[in-house]
Amino acid sequence: MARIAIVGAGFIGRAWAITYARAGHEIRLWDTRPEAAQAALGYIDALLPDLAANGLLDEPPATVRARMTPYGELAAALDGAAHVQESTFEDVATKRQIFADLDRLAAPATVLASSTSAILPSLFTDHLAGRARCLVVHPINPPYVIPAVEVVPAPWTDPEVVARTAAFLRAAGHAPIVMKRELDGFVMNRMQAALLAEAFRLVEDGYATIEDIDIGLREGLALRWSFMGPFETIDLNAPAGVRDYIARYAPFFRRLEADFARSPAWSGAGLDAIEGARRDVLPADKLVERQAWRDRRLMALAAHKRRAARDIGA
Ligand SMILES: NC(=O)c1ccc[n+]([C@@H]2O[C@H](COP(=O)([O-])OP(=O)(O)OC[C@H]3O[C@@H](n4cnc5c(N)ncnc54)[C@H](O)[C@@H]3O)[C@@H](O)[C@H]2O)c1
Repeated sequence: MARIAIVGAGFIGRAWAITYARAGHEIRLWDTRPEAAQAALGYIDALLPDLAANGLLDEPPATVRARMTPYGELAAALDGAAHVQESTFEDVATKRQIFADLDRLAAPATVLASSTSAILPSLFTDHLAGRARCLVVHPINPPYVIPAVEVVPAPWTDPEVVARTAAFLRAAGHAPIVMKRELDGFVMNRMQAALLAEAFRLVEDGYATIEDIDIGLREGLALRWSFMGPFETIDLNAPAGVRDYIARYAPFFRRLEADFARSPAWSGAGLDAIEGARRDVLPADKLVERQAWRDRRLMALAAHKRRAARDIGA
């Protein structure tokens, strides 16, 4: 069991608190707004029973919850921490300042990890004496249900810190993607961006509705993708495997490349129509309720995946 400092206790900080406490670690929560840490604990209190009901906690909720404590001072929260998970605002100036504070206050062996979605680690750690112990650990929300997490080093991150962080995440039930070097969008957002761009083009150009696109994923491609990736998918979709698949379909994929080079508008009438269609099926005041529904569906899916991997094989 290690001590973990959660710095920034919003959406992602509170979610990390759950995933690390569930793994047996002691959690210290700190936020510039003291009420944020309290609010996070209130959210966690409400959520832990749902996780337990879905078989996603191996201990009673009270045992996991007892490992979490809010702190009023950053230095006290960092005392003795093996790992810091920074989840403050997504803004370069904020990240540069908080990482300067963390590097000044945390013991030299403490790993300093940022949850940033889209800021390269080199952009906020270059000025630090301890920059070799800094890296990105980017989750998909919520990390207590979604195992994939991106581990992204800056050019100066010590490879031993990367290896230690990946091992720490694996031991906490995560599936780390360990990037060899930093790249805008990391891995998952690059794939998501490619898919979203095509979805926007298809709707903006009038070929399909947003419901058609959603069916294509929800009732189609994503059923396989929820337990295998695109490479295994194509390996199993031609009699002789991946090379056979490429021989059959690459000429067709090449024909589409010119279309992919054209950017969607991401604005104007196309976006108005997409937003209008979404608000028809989900009024804005129902977004929060639907987020809770999504999280319950994700928990049920995670529980199913655990069972199926055990009964059928991973
Ligand atoms: N929301 C997501 O889906 C998601 C997913 C992956 C990664 N992230 C990343 O996680 C980070 C946090 O995002 P969020 O969605 O939790 O935002 P949020 O607004 O819910 O929470 C941010 C918290 O940080 C606190 N904060 C701001 N500056 C601070 C500072 N200097 N020191 C301490 N606390 C500070 C705020 O008071 C707030 O409670 C961002 O970098 C974001 O890109 C978000």
